[in-house]
Amino acid sequence: MQPLQTLDYCQARYGDMFTYRLPYEGTWVFVSDPEAIKQVFTGDPRLLHAGEANIVLLPVLGEQSVLLLDEPEHMKERKLMLPPFHGKRMKAYGDVMTEIAVEEIDRWPTDRTVRMRPRMQAMTLEIILRAVFGVDEGERLNSLRDQLRRTLNLLAHPRRAIFMVLIGPERLRRFPPFRRQIERVDRLLYEEISSRRGAADLAERDDILSLLLQARHEDGRPMSDRELRDELMTLLVAGHETTATGLSWAIELLARHPEELDRLTADVQGGDGCYLDAVIKETLRLRPVIALVLRKLVEPMEIGGRLLPAGVNVAPSIYLVHRRPEIYPEPERFRPERFIEQPAGTYTWIPFGGGVRRCLGGAFAEFEMSVVLRELVARRRLRSVGEPEHSVRSTITNVPNRGAEVLATPR
Ligand code: HEM
Repeated sequence: MQPLQTLDYCQARYGDMFTYRLPYEGTWVFVSDPEAIKQVFTGDPRLLHAGEANIVLLPVLGEQSVLLLDEPEHMKERKLMLPPFHGKRMKAYGDVMTEIAVEEIDRWPTDRTVRMRPRMQAMTLEIILRAVFGVDEGERLNSLRDQLRRTLNLLAHPRRAIFMVLIGPERLRRFPPFRRQIERVDRLLYEEISSRRGAADLAERDDILSLLLQARHEDGRPMSDRELRDELMTLLVAGHETTATGLSWAIELLARHPEELDRLTADVQGGDGCYLDAVIKETLRLRPVIALVLRKLVEPMEIGGRLLPAGVNVAPSIYLVHRRPEIYPEPERFRPERFIEQPAGTYTWIPFGGGVRRCLGGAFAEFEMSVVLRELVARRRLRSVGEPEHSVRSTITNVPNRGAEVLATPR
């Protein structure tokens, strides 16, 4: 059974809260009632560790990654990283995102099926390289793109992910092929950080690395090279496959829903963008890129009316809360209008998790999806091919089983 079907089965059989014991990964308690989810997201972060639950990513991301830290260290790092990702800043990335989207879309064949997922991955990688890392042109861009792709490939197959879990972070770090790849990519990242530190136009630049280089800790210290390296890698791993998967699902769903696609086209051509926003929200509801988030309990805690022991992983289930019929009538239907009729709720629409661990790149991802979809529907007509695709597990995200195959003919 696929993991999402397993969740449906357990919910039907055991209700809103159930326990799952996984070999090598401990005990997971799934919750899908919005009140229980609220308790987890607003609970004391000293007692609910998210960083510890992500430890398997340590060898790639590094010790200082915001995704792996907990308690005050996490908050300090998160505070430094929040300003560049604030919603208000997103417009600064619009031009570069549009340029990359248009270049990519214009390259697609017009007369045969295109698998969208690899195309979207190429696009989101390019956007991270340019908007987040701020690498512009030339040799450096090419070698960094090449080495980052190779590093992402280390994580790209479920079998490799299982290997990572089994061998454990410390031994993986010393595993020679792994260590050599990380050394190659690190060399390029440190070169980029060092040349940017000395760049004459640093203060005028908009990219996220340049902003982080100018950020200061509370005691006035700048971020160290190691810290910057770990955060760049974190933003790449957290922001690349996720956004590409979200976009692939949006395209797969739109190609199968001509009326919704027409309405989106009209909105993009002269509307206020509300429908575009609703399409993105509905895609992330119906096909959540990540099915759950984790918090490891440091002490026993009462959640959803039950006392849970220390050491268990509480798992708010994004997938299950997004399918509750009392919140989302006809939950299996793709109906973007629902988000025009009613705004997304903090504890009922949670594709980006929540609380002090909510995705730092949420506004960035939604903005990026809106730019790409806007350019896509303005340039191409979409048609579906074959049966509707179902969700299968890639390493981190839940992806369309055939990679979102569509026909994209010119307008
Ligand atoms: C559709 C795209 C995306 C989805 C669905 C997504 C989802 C998530 C989720 C579920 C979490 C964990 C939240 C929690 O534990 O409560 C997370 C964390 C995070 N995401 Fe995203 N993400 C996306 C795009 C991005 C992008 C574009 C970036 C940055 C470029 C990014 C950076 C991060 C970071 C840094 C964290 C860790 C936050 C922390 O621990 O304080 N994500 N994301």
